[in-house]
Amino acid sequence: MNNKTDYNQLAGDFTDYKANKNSIEWVQGYNRLTGLLGFSLKPGDTVLDFGCGTGNYARTLKETYPGLVVIGVDSAQSMVDEARRLDPSGDYVLYNGGIQDEDNLKSYSGNLEELVNGRVINAAVANFVFCTMLNPYEILGICKEIHKVLKTGCPFYIMETNWPVANGKDYGQFRCLHYPELKQFQEVETILRKPDGSEVLVTDLYLGDTFYGHVLGDIGVSCTYENEPENGVFRSRHYWDSPIMLRKIVWKE
Ligand SMILES: C[S@@+](CC[C@H](N)C(=O)[O-])C[C@H]1O[C@@H](n2cnc3c(N)ncnc32)[C@H](O)[C@@H]1O
Repeated sequence: MNNKTDYNQLAGDFTDYKANKNSIEWVQGYNRLTGLLGFSLKPGDTVLDFGCGTGNYARTLKETYPGLVVIGVDSAQSMVDEARRLDPSGDYVLYNGGIQDEDNLKSYSGNLEELVNGRVINAAVANFVFCTMLNPYEILGICKEIHKVLKTGCPFYIMETNWPVANGKDYGQFRCLHYPELKQFQEVETILRKPDGSEVLVTDLYLGDTFYGHVLGDIGVSCTYENEPENGVFRSRHYWDSPIMLRKIVWKE
C-alpha cells in the first residue's frame, strides 16, 4: 500500500483541480450524476457524499436542488477542514472506520451509522473514492456500512474513471498513463492538471467490470446493479465510451 495517495496533502490542490466546471469530469460525470439524482430526490431529502473531498460536489448539489441536505464524509482531516471552510453551514464529518482484510468483514460495523446519526439517507454517492483505496476489502467494508444507512430502494451511485476507455488518453484536465493490459486490482496512475498547469500524480486501483457485482454478493445483500441509464434506458457497458463511468446500485430488502 506504499503507493496509496495521501489525500491529506491534497486538499488545496483539490479545490483548484475541481474548480473548472467545463472539464470532462464535470460535463460527463458530476453533471450527469446531478441530473440522475434529480429524478428521485425531493426538497428535504438527504444525500450522503462518501469521500466528499473538499465538498465541491456537495456544494453543487445543494445549489442545484435547494432544500436538499448533503452529508459529506471523508477520512482526510484536511479535506473535511477545507470543505467546512468553503461551506461553513454545510455538514462535513470525519470518517475513521474501515477494515484492511477479509478476516474482519463479517463482524465489521464501522462508524458511519453513528456519523449519520439516525438521519434517513435517500441517496448515496461515492465519486472517485473506492478506486483510491487500493484495497478491495476496505471497499467491501464501506459498502457494507453504506448499505446499513441508505434507505431501502434508494440509489447508490459510484463514479470513477472508465479505464478501458481512458487508458493512455489525455483529457486536458487529467491524463491516464498507458498500460498495455489492464488487470483487475492493478495499480494505475493518473496525472491531474490544475488550472495553473501544475500537475499531481494519483494512484488508483483498476477494479474491473465485474467488481461491484461481486462486492454486493460478498456482503450478502440483494440489489440491482446497473451502469448509467441514459434517457431512462440502461445501456450495456459495451456501448459506453466515456472516460467517466457511473454505476448505480439499488439495495433490496
Ligand atoms: C479523488 S478524491 C475525490 C473527492 C470527491 N469525491 C470528488 O469527487 O471531488 C478521493 C477522496 O476519497 C477520500 N477517501 C479515501 N479513502 C477513504 C476512506 N476509506 N474513507 C473515506 N474517505 C476516503 C480521500 O480522502 C479523498 O478526499
